[in-house]
Amino acid sequence: MSEVEVQQSAKPAFEVPRHVAIIMDGNGRWAAARGLPRAEGHRRGVEALRRTIRAAGEIGVQVITIFSFSAENWSRPATEIRELMGLLRRFIRNDLAELHRSNVRVRIIGEREGLDADIGRLLTEAEELTRANSGLTLVVAFNYGARQEIARAARHIAKQVERGALKAADVTVATVGAFLDAPDLPDPDLVIRTSGEQRLSNFLLWQSAYSELVFLPIYWPDFDRAALEAAIREYQQRERRFGGLVAKTGS
Ligand code: FPP
Repeated sequence: MSEVEVQQSAKPAFEVPRHVAIIMDGNGRWAAARGLPRAEGHRRGVEALRRTIRAAGEIGVQVITIFSFSAENWSRPATEIRELMGLLRRFIRNDLAELHRSNVRVRIIGEREGLDADIGRLLTEAEELTRANSGLTLVVAFNYGARQEIARAARHIAKQVERGALKAADVTVATVGAFLDAPDLPDPDLVIRTSGEQRLSNFLLWQSAYSELVFLPIYWPDFDRAALEAAIREYQQRERRFGGLVAKTGS
């Protein structure tokens, strides 16, 4: 299994989305279709993730957000939760050094509380080691739910109002945005979901207000550079108007 290598080169001439967010769906169905355990689908999902990070860097995408473990995934059987936690541990232990060498900056969004202490430490280590990197930003949405993220922001804002630091009348769209998990990052231009399902499933609901959505009929373990390029080509056909009348090329 090759390690992640990211090159910021060979950029195509067309307009590349600055931020691509991905719902990596279909690991279980990929495995079931082959008579394999679901865990094998997740393992192959990590290989697809490595390919995708490399391809995104080569194409010139600046930020990639991946839905790695949702706040709702806790309802899965304990064995599968253990497997997914183990995959995250192995991904950080095996790939962090290479990501760092490739100038990738790792960010984490989602709720840290309630995670095993060692997972919390690994997530913090990944962020701290790569904090000064200036290449691709890899945002790992882990124990993440968009409604939970917006509720967290609302609680922070309510506390500021309680303390008298903010007036209720001054709470704007920008105020809410500033209290989200990664407020400095641009909104996703393109959200991709694999497996043929056509919904957002509580992923980046606030940030994807004007994102282009592309649904691909392939399972996540089969995702590769060609699939990413196909999604980007579809994105390039779309006319982005952000509620106005004139097409714009992004925020
Ligand atoms: C959806 O497939 C995928 C997940 C719930 C987890 C995605 C995780 C990975 C690709 C690997 C782990 C990532 C890291 C960073 C270690 P599914 O199980 O819902 O598939 P199904 O809908 O076909 O059952």
